[in-house]
Amino acid sequence: MKIFLDTAVLEEIQEVAAWGILDGVTTNPTLAAKAGRDFETNLRAISEIVGQRGTVSAETVSLDADGMVREAKLVTSWADNIVAKVPFTAEGLKAVRRCVDEGIRTNVTLVFSAAQGLLAMKAGAFYVSPFVGRIDDGGQDGMEVVRQLCEIKRLYGFETEVLSASLRTTLHIIDSALAGADIATLPYTVLTKAMGHSLSREGLASFLKDWAGIPENMRPF
Ligand code: G3P
Repeated sequence: MKIFLDTAVLEEIQEVAAWGILDGVTTNPTLAAKAGRDFETNLRAISEIVGQRGTVSAETVSLDADGMVREAKLVTSWADNIVAKVPFTAEGLKAVRRCVDEGIRTNVTLVFSAAQGLLAMKAGAFYVSPFVGRIDDGGQDGMEVVRQLCEIKRLYGFETEVLSASLRTTLHIIDSALAGADIATLPYTVLTKAMGHSLSREGLASFLKDWAGIPENMRPF
């Protein structure tokens, strides 16, 4: 499973890229607003950090297909690894189909059911993004939508990648992987929480203490 960061903050992307586990980035208008930088400049900078590692999703904001395609063309002209995010609406589906014809990759976002995801796959989406955490918020099982989409993809041979989004917990990461999601996109805090474990910290402290007990002339460093 690929790991994307769900952020528009350059420092977070640089840090995780340096760890060697970054496969891409997703952004949305809310995240772009939080970054507090010029949108195009920021997207270009993110795309440069991600480079050959993978893609960067940049969201369109028009509500009509013409506007979405126009914005998709613009954002994808900034770098080869940019994918245009379009919302799941009838106009969004229309835009996805037209983007396929134009050779533009799309990430269909705001997907809240397997039926929506299936239609996005049929339209030719490059990624489909079920919003797990927001579905959970509504009292339903968000991960079930990921599982259903992975199964639909397997049964019908869709090439669309299932991008598990709106992830909030370590369990969401594990369950996305077990469901067979192609990608999990994680906020920086969700990723760093998943990395921490008290036994790792305690074990390291104990190893270092014991190592220091070896006389200096008996250890190489
Ligand atoms: O980027 C799309 C998605 O991951 C948003 O997540 O936490 O705002 O529901 P969230």
